Amino acid sequence: MHKRGYRIGQGDAPLKETLAAALVKLTRWNPDRPFVDPFCGSGTIPIEAAMIGQNIAPGYNREFSSEHWPWMNSTIWDRIREEAEDIAKYDQPLDIKGFDVDSRMIKVAQQNAVEAGFMDLIRFEQRDIKDLSVEGLNGVLVGNPPYGERLGEVEEAEELTQIMGHIMDKYPSWSVYMLSSLENFETMYGKKATKKRKLFNGFIRTDLYQYWGQRK
Ligand SMILES: C[S@@+](CC[C@H](N)C(=O)[O-])C[C@H]1O[C@@H](n2cnc3c(N)ncnc32)[C@H](O)[C@@H]1O
Repeated sequence: MHKRGYRIGQGDAPLKETLAAALVKLTRWNPDRPFVDPFCGSGTIPIEAAMIGQNIAPGYNREFSSEHWPWMNSTIWDRIREEAEDIAKYDQPLDIKGFDVDSRMIKVAQQNAVEAGFMDLIRFEQRDIKDLSVEGLNGVLVGNPPYGERLGEVEEAEELTQIMGHIMDKYPSWSVYMLSSLENFETMYGKKATKKRKLFNGFIRTDLYQYWGQRK
């Protein structure tokens, strides 16, 4: 069920679509607020946010093998697809962006967004976290930074967290939700999380560090 049909390309550590959708839901984001994933990789989180924002059913652009079972009444599938189509809000404007330092990942994310039908709705851009800036009020920053499983990588992951903490300090109305396996995430970010929630990304134990913004 986690396969949505839009992911034609992926990076080294893509998030499962269902976990990405769960992250978006946990942020309580709605399309009136800006949304940014600063470590977007193949674009899974922004694409799931766009689907949620426009109320598009997961799996709307894929086939399911049960559609071809000889004894399956195909009108059931037609009806369900019609129902999904009726409640989709294709005109809902969205302010969703995805950044990644790796330009190859930006290309992959753009291809996936085209496949999902969101080519013009999500802006993907090559950008290092140290150049992060966000626009608008009450936005939501969501992502899963590099995990850093090996020694050098841990230091790099810590540094990225530190940089992000400094930058987001300038945007008190924004909420930040980061899925990380760094146990010292809060120390590195420079602030205690409003809430922490344990989540497994495959076999990796991670925490969703939540910093709730002061709504304006
Ligand atoms: C764990 S992956 C994110 C996977 C993504 N959620 C997906 O579903 O494909 C982390 C991403 O952070 C990016 N990254 C690493 N260092 C970065 C930096 N300094 N600034 C921005 N992005 C960076 C990597 O290129 C990688 O794509």
